[in-house]
Amino acid sequence: MNNPDWSKLPFGYFPTDYNVRCLYRDGKWGEIEVSTSETINIHMAATALHYGQEIFEGLKAFMGADGKIRIFRLEENARRIRESAKGIMMEPIPEELFKEMCVKVVELNRRFVPPYGSGASLYIRPLEIGMSPRIGVKPGDEYLFIVMVTPVGPYFKEGFANTKICIMREYDRVAPRGTGRWKVGGNYAASLSAGERAHSLGYSAVLYLDPKEKKYLDECGPANFFAIKDGKYITPASESILPSITNMSLQDLARDLGIDVECRHITVDELADCTEAAACGTAAVASPIGEIDDLDTGVKYIISKDGKPGAITTALYNKLNAIRLGEEPDTHGWNTILD
Ligand code: PLP
Ligand code: COI
Repeated sequence: MNNPDWSKLPFGYFPTDYNVRCLYRDGKWGEIEVSTSETINIHMAATALHYGQEIFEGLKAFMGADGKIRIFRLEENARRIRESAKGIMMEPIPEELFKEMCVKVVELNRRFVPPYGSGASLYIRPLEIGMSPRIGVKPGDEYLFIVMVTPVGPYFKEGFANTKICIMREYDRVAPRGTGRWKVGGNYAASLSAGERAHSLGYSAVLYLDPKEKKYLDECGPANFFAIKDGKYITPASESILPSITNMSLQDLARDLGIDVECRHITVDELADCTEAAACGTAAVASPIGEIDDLDTGVKYIISKDGKPGAITTALYNKLNAIRLGEEPDTHGWNTILD
């Protein structure tokens, strides 16, 4: 496979040379296998296929200004996938194994790490699936952990530019005490109808409300949500959202810039007083939101008055990128630098 045109890469699947795999069987993790195959052999009654035992992660590797490859917040993703595993009774992946496999797959696919300055990155997608045949609803005892990579560009086709998102109450992606706090494949299946409807109406994503009361903001499609209100960084505190590592990082960067951070319930009508808003995540980075339309009430919240991304969102976005690209000191110790 030849290299892609880095500057035109979408956020999509582009084949690379290798993936790495490890099987949990007979109560232990086996040897790491390097594979060139894009397919897997799976029992037709596997728990992944019938009862949704599937969890995944998303993180990125960047080619730095100094020609070194950096993986952003590897330990945090290792920690989160263990939480997801416990959440749906799968085998937690030891931190060291997770890290070793992520580093190895990036090293093996070095030629797919987009060059410095291209704006693209190598997306690392670890996934764990239940392999045991079960017809009764029970957890399996065999699990396959795979780490694949694919070079990606911006998640929203607009790149770093304002998009419009919408609120609709017809669908929930997760239940109040359900699986939203874990990165479980089924959550994304549950979001497809709402997401496709939003796209067909010209919105980049759905801003979900809390599934219990539909009163508070929850998260924004495949990303967390933050806004700037009275000069403060505000972001929803909720049991039904994924704890975003990007959001945590942006909160730290906001504090570094002297901006107060509030992690709390945010009501829908507070949007009227927000001066900036963004979707944040590994794929979305910090994607500015210009307008939020409530499709049920007809209210349009115009967040950006001049059509441009807000100053604080832009500053945070630039700071995060500068750290990941090795342009600025990594004072929080977030990067794993490859040899
Ligand atoms: N929320 C959901 C539902 C996601 O899928 C993601 C993506 O991983 C995020 C939030 C952002 O999390 P992170 O910043 O760790 O990528
Ligand atoms: C990520 O940001 O890594 C995600 O997992 C979002 C996505 C499902 C594309």
